[in-house]
Amino acid sequence: MRYTRREWLRTSAAGLAGCWQAGWGLPSRSRLGMVVAEEPLAAEVGANFLRKGGNAIDAAVAVAFTLAVTYPQAGNLGGGGFLLYRRSDGWAKVVDFREVAPRRATEELYRSVPSEAAVVGPRACAVPGTVRGLGLAQRRYGRLKWAELLQPAIELAERGFPVPFELAEELRRARHLGRFAESRRVYLKDGHYWQPGEQFHQPELARTLRRIAEQGPEEFYEGETARLIVAAMEPGGGLIGLEDLRAYQPLEREPLVGQYRGWQVVTVPPPSSGGVGLLQVLGMLEESGYERCGWGSADAIHFVAEALRRFFADRACCLADPAFYSVPLERLLAPAYLARRRSGIDWRRATPSQMLGAWPDGLERERAQTTHVSVLDQDGNAVALTYTLNGLFGSGVTVPRAGFLLNNEMDDFATRPGQPNQFGLVQGPANRVEPGKRPLSSMAPTILVRDGLARLVLGSPGGPRIVSAVLEVVLNMVDFKMEVHDAVDAPRFHHQWRPDALVLEPGFSPDTVKLLQMKGHRVARIANVGKVGAIAVQDGWMLGVADRRGYGRAAGV
Ligand code: DON
Repeated sequence: MRYTRREWLRTSAAGLAGCWQAGWGLPSRSRLGMVVAEEPLAAEVGANFLRKGGNAIDAAVAVAFTLAVTYPQAGNLGGGGFLLYRRSDGWAKVVDFREVAPRRATEELYRSVPSEAAVVGPRACAVPGTVRGLGLAQRRYGRLKWAELLQPAIELAERGFPVPFELAEELRRARHLGRFAESRRVYLKDGHYWQPGEQFHQPELARTLRRIAEQGPEEFYEGETARLIVAAMEPGGGLIGLEDLRAYQPLEREPLVGQYRGWQVVTVPPPSSGGVGLLQVLGMLEESGYERCGWGSADAIHFVAEALRRFFADRACCLADPAFYSVPLERLLAPAYLARRRSGIDWRRATPSQMLGAWPDGLERERAQTTHVSVLDQDGNAVALTYTLNGLFGSGVTVPRAGFLLNNEMDDFATRPGQPNQFGLVQGPANRVEPGKRPLSSMAPTILVRDGLARLVLGSPGGPRIVSAVLEVVLNMVDFKMEVHDAVDAPRFHHQWRPDALVLEPGFSPDTVKLLQMKGHRVARIANVGKVGAIAVQDGWMLGVADRRGYGRAAGV
């Protein structure tokens, strides 16, 4: 039987307990530490490790492994991401564990197969970075023992957990899982589907996690798990070989640091475009006076959308993995360049996207997943971690006998320059497929600092919409003086240059929409722009907010 969300909540004790547990509508507050994640059990696991004396890194690593069990939509072993760590003394690093293209992946190969091959099935998979990335962060900066941090994930995989309503719904919608026998068995119960509240056991995943706990992250890349991944490639012409796995390395990078109205903005560099986007748009807004138009006014939305449009045009031409393409970072972030971009914005009229670039229009498809974790520990160390399988449940390929899904990150490359990918992003040759290259990302885990202290830790899923989601929460707090929960709740909008459309969440006034149309915007609707997980520090309190758009939790210590 299928339930509507309301029926399930009314009839099931688990549902009611879930509402209470999730603390819906209430920002959690604490002075001793805070974890925000998109799934309540995982957030609790993180808070428990903070209580046990772990630092922000320990908690983030434990949450990430737990999400791989409890949030298979995006939590993962088979994907990649970015972890931004800022210590209380101001030192900060980014662990880049973005996936890389396998050695056998070439531009020609992806052009010669249907474009769907970069989205569904083994050929969509890039070499996963999560396990070595989390391993590196934990070995260098964590306090607790690796195996201890994986224990809750192992137990949840072994004993199972009640399937949340949203997971049950998302599994039903993930038709591509049905195309792979192992995914059909594990995630769709061979067509019987998981019901909300049913206990979800994942014995194969528990065994994989146990191997990684006992033998360390290397096991995933050189042991039994590596062999199982390679075996999973064979049926669909997947490209990941043992040598790709052995050679994969996460990288430590210097964060990008900018300023906005007295705040220091610490964020991630390429191969994500997210940090560049955030700093570019903030740079265009700083001297514009846009905020005087007021939150939600057509003029303010217009100006921010125009700045976003300009960033996304630059993204398409000039951002990619810096190991393969010489990213003109200084030019893209130079105040003089941003001032010129700002002065090109007409307050009255939308700039048609073709005037900013030369690629054809594309339609955007909906739904995909990534997930973000924010942690702040008692000492003021902060972690913003965004990681992903790319699309919802990634490529749809579950590694047989290992119990986890593989990413479809190859679609983040411009597999066909000039044509839109699954997020409608039109990208240029800088981001073309090359062996060993990291695909361009939009992930933007970010920390805002004032008076030397981390005051806002945040990030979001949403593909290109990540940039808009993170940006608008920052603007809501810095420019419109909102409290963090209002800043996250407020309706959001997004523009990504191509397609030439301003997308709005529900909640903007019809009058405003009309004014935007009169300025020349093609307005479209969207259910949600990202799902932000944020922690703000105010009067000594840590305020955690899990976005109402998801079912996550802010777990205070
Ligand atoms: O790295 C990126 O930009 C994408 N792989 C992120 C995908 C994503 O956020 C989907 N989430 N809803």
